[in-house]
Amino acid sequence: MLIDLSGRTVLVTGGGSGIGREACIAYAASGADVVVVDRHLAAAEETAALLRPDTDAIAVRADVTSEGDVSNMVAQAVSHFGKLDCAFNNAGVGVAEAGTSGKRLHELPRASWDMLIGVNLTGVWLCMKAELEHMVARGQGGVIVNNASIAGLIGFPKASNAYGAAKHGVVGMTRQSAFEYAPDNIRINVICPGPIMTALTAAHATPEVVGSGVPLGRPGSPEDIASMAVYLSSDQAAFITGMAFAVDGGVTAGQLASA
Ligand SMILES: NC(=O)c1ccc[n+]([C@@H]2O[C@H](COP(=O)([O-])OP(=O)(O)OC[C@H]3O[C@@H](n4cnc5c(N)ncnc54)[C@H](O)[C@@H]3O)[C@@H](O)[C@H]2O)c1
Repeated sequence: MLIDLSGRTVLVTGGGSGIGREACIAYAASGADVVVVDRHLAAAEETAALLRPDTDAIAVRADVTSEGDVSNMVAQAVSHFGKLDCAFNNAGVGVAEAGTSGKRLHELPRASWDMLIGVNLTGVWLCMKAELEHMVARGQGGVIVNNASIAGLIGFPKASNAYGAAKHGVVGMTRQSAFEYAPDNIRINVICPGPIMTALTAAHATPEVVGSGVPLGRPGSPEDIASMAVYLSSDQAAFITGMAFAVDGGVTAGQLASA
């Protein structure tokens, strides 16, 4: 099965690192035009320089917690490419950056809760709002893929309360909005990665620690998630909407698998 996204414009948030960067590379390899978005412009530009050489790509600075930045990010995509077909809402912060590693609910500072909910839930909501405004007005369908976590499906010891709340929120928002936008032929799905080796996890653990308890015996790679994002964005997934897909090496398959 060859996935061909040529002629499609795809926007990726958090495209400057980790899963987002690899997704940009994979979308470009499938022939898509790519809008690389990150809060750090230099990182987005670095990703754009790594794409298949014949790729039409732009790098855009946007903080997903800013309504103005997010609306400008979609406006820049539409002004350069004339349209937006697909978005991978991936930008997020982890428990190390929010300073919540190992803390229980009553120990979380309000600022950490606000940061994790602000970027990981409200940020996705703001992106979807701006992307859907364009897709609905254009009237030619579209695809949204959100990036949550297995911490959006189950309680997960390596996550934290606010992280889990935000990611469960993204899964719920995906299911609800899939209903709302199916009449517009806009498909909306969510990926729930297990432990993946990126800057987010390297900030607090070695690959051995990140991969511990994974039935397949290793941490996931950004490529493992990028290929799912590309598949869900393609016509091969044309009958799939409102679904949450764990890509986790078997972590959520059940207790027996990891015993
Ligand atoms: N790495 C994992 O194990 C793992 C597991 C499950 C889910 N996830 C999710 O995958 C997504 C990507 O994580 P990653 O591991 O690639 O992390 P990463 O730190 O390597 O990359 C995250 C990117 O998002 C950008 N970003 C952060 N806040 C932003 C904001 N407010 N506005 C715009 N850009 C912003 C960062 O600058 C960075 O480039 C996150 O949503 C994360 O929660 C990661």
